[in-house]
Amino acid sequence: MGYALAKAFLRQKAQVLLISGPTTLEIPDHVDFIPVETAQDMHDAVARALSRVDIAIFCAAVADYTPEVVAAHKIKKSSDTITLTLKKTVDILGSARSIHGFKGYLVGFAAETEHLEGHAREKLSGKQCDMIIANDVSQQGIGFDSTENEVLIVEAEENTQLPRDSKEHLAHHIAEIILQRAAQKHSQA
Ligand code: C5P
Repeated sequence: MGYALAKAFLRQKAQVLLISGPTTLEIPDHVDFIPVETAQDMHDAVARALSRVDIAIFCAAVADYTPEVVAAHKIKKSSDTITLTLKKTVDILGSARSIHGFKGYLVGFAAETEHLEGHAREKLSGKQCDMIIANDVSQQGIGFDSTENEVLIVEAEENTQLPRDSKEHLAHHIAEIILQRAAQKHSQA
């Protein structure tokens, strides 16, 4: 979705910065591109970029936990079971306003398997977003590893359901809605 959105915003004549973990996708022409490996790298790149952007969209599926200790060498087989201790990764979206003081239009994504709207509303207020784009990842054929998606756009005052469509068409529709809302917010500021 991130790559589809980057292309959709380019078509709307926006200047786009794409910060991405490793993928096999082609980097769209005309975007500024920052490759990152870890959640911490992504956080650091986002923190440096936030003061330069009007709209920030967070749709990377960042791992919530990471190994506490990274072995310098291959872990040799010994006991029958092995326990890895995981620690929480930095919440990049959650830090945008609360720590980095981002004032622009803030959009997060929510991949849920139940209570789609409720969980999205919790994220909207908890992470001080203007919009959450939620999708139900328990449904076959949409979301992760699929070319199609179906989303519920949740804002403070309203919900907008965008029915199942190609990620490319959805991205185009989402970009139009975000640009319109961001302009509204800007004119009211
Ligand atoms: O709370 P949850 O992880 O479900 O929220 C999903 C949103 O948070 C997405 O926009 C995702 O890109 C972002 N996220 C983040 N940092 C993390 C995990 C998720 O910014 N460590």
